[in-house]
Amino acid sequence: MSDKDVHTTVAEAYTGALERSREQTATGCCGGANDAPVSQTAALAGYGEEAAVHEDAAASSFGCGNPLAFAGVQKGDTVLDLGAGAGFDLLIAADRVGPEGHVIGIDMTDAMIDAARENAAKAGFSNVDARKGLIEDLPVDDASVDWVISNCVINLSPEKDRVFAEIHRVLRPGGAFAISDIVVEDLPAWIREHTQAYVACVAGAISESDYVAGLCSAGLDGVEVTDRLVYSADQIKGMLAGDFANLGLDPSTLDADISEVDGKVWSAKFTGRRKD
Ligand SMILES: C[S@@+](CC[C@H](N)C(=O)[O-])C[C@H]1O[C@@H](n2cnc3c(N)ncnc32)[C@H](O)[C@@H]1O
Repeated sequence: MSDKDVHTTVAEAYTGALERSREQTATGCCGGANDAPVSQTAALAGYGEEAAVHEDAAASSFGCGNPLAFAGVQKGDTVLDLGAGAGFDLLIAADRVGPEGHVIGIDMTDAMIDAARENAAKAGFSNVDARKGLIEDLPVDDASVDWVISNCVINLSPEKDRVFAEIHRVLRPGGAFAISDIVVEDLPAWIREHTQAYVACVAGAISESDYVAGLCSAGLDGVEVTDRLVYSADQIKGMLAGDFANLGLDPSTLDADISEVDGKVWSAKFTGRRKD
């Protein structure tokens, strides 16, 4: 797939996932783990009472951790969320920065931008700015933000080094980042090659050491992995959205096939800063 095709495929997948999450909320159905590209269980990992306070946005969350749980965001800060989706983390950031701060969310999917704007308006925030754009070419000024956060998005980018360079460009000197993302080690070819596994945040993911090296090469400083959540084979099955016919897997060997990736996929939390 060309980079443009990757963006189109991912945007279509997340438009559909958003619609399904809303239908489930509207019908009171509590499903979702096997219908969304990323399990709702994983999406809510690390969120406490915020999920109840911002219930609608939380129901359309497709993350793999809570970047604001390990970001030292202060009142008055400007926070930028890469791949903000329906805006759950934007609302939590807006609670943290207060009315004197600013929150910017970037997403390439129209439906996600509309949902984020709607959720911010419903929550009464006028300082949340959801902008349509690519994380590889951020519509954000140089050296203008205190924090970059991101939740389960950079793995979906076909040009991760450009994203890392953009993080460095938009941070003010001294500004920091808190990123929760999926990383992998030695994935078998059948997962690497499948589109469904790509949109499910697995096939496009890189190794933790390549991720750290990419952030460092972009000039970011003090890059560290502060936490990891390793997924079990069952959780990976959930992430791959249930339709194993599409993955070309034989149901009779499914458990054995999935067991090949046991322990090879995890969510990692990355922090660091722009020194100068
Ligand atoms: C797995 S979802 C995560 C959404 C959100 N961070 C959350 O925690 O709910 C990935 C989001 O990233 C967006 N996205 C993926 N690749 C992107 C890119 N290259 N540029 C901008 N947005 C992108 C998708 O449209 C989708 O909303």
